[in-house]
Amino acid sequence: MDSIIVTGNGELNGQIPIAGAKNACLTLMPATLLSEEPLTLTNAPRLSDIATLSALLESLGAEVTSLADGKVLAMSSHNLTSHLAHYDIVRKMRASILVLGPLLARTGQAVVSLPGGCAIGARPVDLHLKALEAMGAELELKDGYVHAQAKGGLKGGIVDFAFASVGATENALMAATLAKGTTVLNNAAREPEIVDLADCLRAMGAQIDGDGTSTITVQGVDRLGGATHQVVTDRIELGTYMLAPAFCGGEVELLGGRIDLLAAFCEKLDAAGISVSESDNGLKVARKNGRIHAVDVTTEPFPGFPTDLQAQMMALLCTAEGTSVLEEKIFENRFMHAPELMRMGAQIDVSGGTATVTGVEKLRGAPVMATDLRASVSLILAGLAAEGETRVGRVYHLDRGYEQVVRKLSGVGAHIERVKD
Ligand code: EPZ
Repeated sequence: MDSIIVTGNGELNGQIPIAGAKNACLTLMPATLLSEEPLTLTNAPRLSDIATLSALLESLGAEVTSLADGKVLAMSSHNLTSHLAHYDIVRKMRASILVLGPLLARTGQAVVSLPGGCAIGARPVDLHLKALEAMGAELELKDGYVHAQAKGGLKGGIVDFAFASVGATENALMAATLAKGTTVLNNAAREPEIVDLADCLRAMGAQIDGDGTSTITVQGVDRLGGATHQVVTDRIELGTYMLAPAFCGGEVELLGGRIDLLAAFCEKLDAAGISVSESDNGLKVARKNGRIHAVDVTTEPFPGFPTDLQAQMMALLCTAEGTSVLEEKIFENRFMHAPELMRMGAQIDVSGGTATVTGVEKLRGAPVMATDLRASVSLILAGLAAEGETRVGRVYHLDRGYEQVVRKLSGVGAHIERVKD
């Protein structure tokens, strides 16, 4: 296993390029299953999750060719050879469940392993299944797998989501493109990754309206064609690196950054004493002056404050002036970074889905453990401004969602290195 060693040092200055969105790419890739024609994605991020999903698609008979050092994924599902998404792959990456809708819509059958939970929660998929049943799918849960049939193909239907689930919206949206008739998704998720998926599906010939709002309407078509689509900027990587100058001082320009992807997050940064301005190349971020101010944060579905930036924001607020209250409303166990931050001297009281952070002057470097993807990067950020050395273990979590962290942060002056344990 590898660790990352960060030594707190002065200001950070320079530019950080932002990659394509992991959470967009993980839903764009299964879209290839909907068509016999090639689908090519550009601006793809180089991450282990992408490699895992590529392997799953290939196990179904799709071809996935990685070009341009991994930034281009040329895919074709002309000859599908299997309907089985095996547990061995699905358990590594929960988003594999996103092959269920497209596979069922294209072939009329799918056998997909239930993904199981992960560190941050039970992560059920009941909303995915209910949506497909509303489109006429017959589902049976057996031996840890979803056995899905759609004899004569899926039919347009009305889907009322009990919760604005990102994944369930994506699965239903992809399935609806080939259903016979019209499908309406009510209380649909509004994340930018949903809009990016809809843009790609429209380029393939799908008829979709309302993406980005809570009601999406899809007019099914007989078949979809091919397309070339550029993956949208990763708003979570963007928000993560926007915090680097907030921790350390200095000014950092995030290349490709867009305020519209993170409006609620930027409002909180402003309240905390961090300036965000648009530049010709993206976004420039700097501390306004002096210490960070305490702010309260509640995570919500888009356009609210993103749960995927909660850990990073908590780390920043550990040295804010005053007390901050963070409420995690999306996942039931997403404060595992708190005990690790407390090893660095943070004062955090966790009670259920609420964490109360009392700001201290400075954190102290310490050996800490990454528990999940976003927690791992929050510990690295905390180490950037802590006194002394912080060693973050189990950084394989990091490789799932952040490409070239050491290179990107070194590029703006951070003292950071990756070592073998
Ligand atoms: C997506 O997960 C993202 N992953 C997550 O990012 C992100 O945190 C999440 O959306 C919320 O924004 C990908 O896009 C690959 P949900 P997803 O369905 O689709 C419950 C990261 O760090 N729920 O919106 O799984 C669920 O348990 C990852 O990049 C059901 O109860 O999120 C959770 O509490 C972490 N039944 C809540 O809804 C269902 O059928 C949000 O889940 C589906 C979800």
